[in-house]
Amino acid sequence: MNTRPDIKSSTVAPDWTQIRSHFSVLENKTYLNSCSYGALATEVKEALQRYIRDREERGTDWNYWVERNESVRMAVATFLGADPDEIAVTASASAGINSVASALNFNQARNKVVISEFEFPTNAQIWYAQELRGAKVVRVPEKDGYIPVEHFESAIDDETLIVAVTQVCFRNGARLDIPAIAEVARQKGALLLMDGYQGFGTMDFDVHQAGVDFAVGGMLKYLLGTAGIGFLYVRESLIDSLVPTATGWFAQSDIFAMDTSGYNPSPTARRFEMGTPPVPNCYAAEAGLKIIEDIGLPAIEQRIGELTAAIISEAKKAGYALVVPEDPKRHGALITLRTHDENALVDILENQGIVTSCRSGNLRISPHFYNNEDDIDSLFRALREQKHLLV
Ligand SMILES: Cc1ncc(COP(=O)(O)O)c(C=O)c1O
Repeated sequence: MNTRPDIKSSTVAPDWTQIRSHFSVLENKTYLNSCSYGALATEVKEALQRYIRDREERGTDWNYWVERNESVRMAVATFLGADPDEIAVTASASAGINSVASALNFNQARNKVVISEFEFPTNAQIWYAQELRGAKVVRVPEKDGYIPVEHFESAIDDETLIVAVTQVCFRNGARLDIPAIAEVARQKGALLLMDGYQGFGTMDFDVHQAGVDFAVGGMLKYLLGTAGIGFLYVRESLIDSLVPTATGWFAQSDIFAMDTSGYNPSPTARRFEMGTPPVPNCYAAEAGLKIIEDIGLPAIEQRIGELTAAIISEAKKAGYALVVPEDPKRHGALITLRTHDENALVDILENQGIVTSCRSGNLRISPHFYNNEDDIDSLFRALREQKHLLV
C-alpha cells in the first residue's frame, strides 16, 4: 500500500525529494541506469499488483482490458502532442517498425532506406531484412561521436523511401537534430521514422512540430513502465495510404467482427497493431505515464539537464574522456565516458551499490528526475578509485 503523498501536479514546482521517495530502489542503490531500465515506482508496482487482483476478482473482463489499452493510447498521444487515432499500442518498438516496413513497397524506383551508425540494432536489422523485399539500405557514418545533418543531406536523395533514425544513440548518448533531418527528408520526398526510445520521457517533444512521419518508443526506460509494451505514432495523413501486411485481429476495423473472410484494416493507426494487447504491461505503462504527466515533461527535461550538466562538469574536472558531445542540444539523458575495460568498471561499481551499464567501451551514466546530486557525488567518489580503468 502506498502511504506516500501523491506526486504533485505540474502546476506547482516539483518536490524532487518527495518524488524520489516513490522509488524504493534508491534507498539501497545509487541507480544511474535509466537508459536500460527505469527505476520501479511504487505506483507501477501497485498497478502490477492490481492486475493480479483484478484477475482474481473480475475473472474475465475483456472490456476492462481493452480500456487499459485505450488508456495507454490516450496517455501516449498526450505526451507526444498527437491525436489518439495516430497511436498504435505495440508489444515493442520492433513491432512498430516491422509493421511500418510491412506496409512499404520497395519494388519501385524509391527503394532506399537511410539509417545511421547510431541505430539500436533493431532499427538496422529490420531494414536490412527488407533487402529481401527489394529495399537498399544505406548507413550514414558518424564523425567524432556525432552525425551532423549534412551527413544525412548527402545520403538522402530522390531514391530514398524512408529515413529511419534514432533520436538519442544508445551507445554514446548523442542526440541528433531530428527536426532538421525530417526537413531534409521532406524536401526529398522521403518519409522519416524516429526511434525515440532513448529520448521519450526525458524531454518535451512534439511529433507534429518535429515533422516526423513515424515515431516508435517503449515503456521500459524513462517512461517508467515495464518491458513488453511500446507504441508507434503515424502521421494522420499517411494512415489511409499505408496497409500493413504484418497484421492481426486487433488491427481490424471491427475487432470483434471475428471475420475470417477478408482483411479490413482499421481507419486509424490501430491498423499497425497485431494480436491481444500486452494487458499486464498496459497496467504498468498507465501508471508510469501518469507519473510523467503529473510532473510534466518540461520540469523533467530541466531537472535532467541539471543532472547531466553536473555529470559532465565532474567528468571534466577529473579529466575523464567524455564520449558524448558537451552541448546540451547534442546529448540526451545518457552521458558516456571512455573506458579501458567497461565491463570491469560496471562490475566494480555494481559491487559498491552503484548501478550503471556499458556499450562499445563506454561507461553509460543515465540519470532520471529521481536522481540527485548525492548520487553523482557517490559515482565520482567511486570512479576516483578506478582512474586506471578510465581513459
Ligand atoms: C534506441 C532503442 N531502440 C529500441 C530499443 C528496444 O526496442 P524493443 O522495444 O523492440 O526491444 C532500445 C532499447 O532497448 C533502444 O535503446
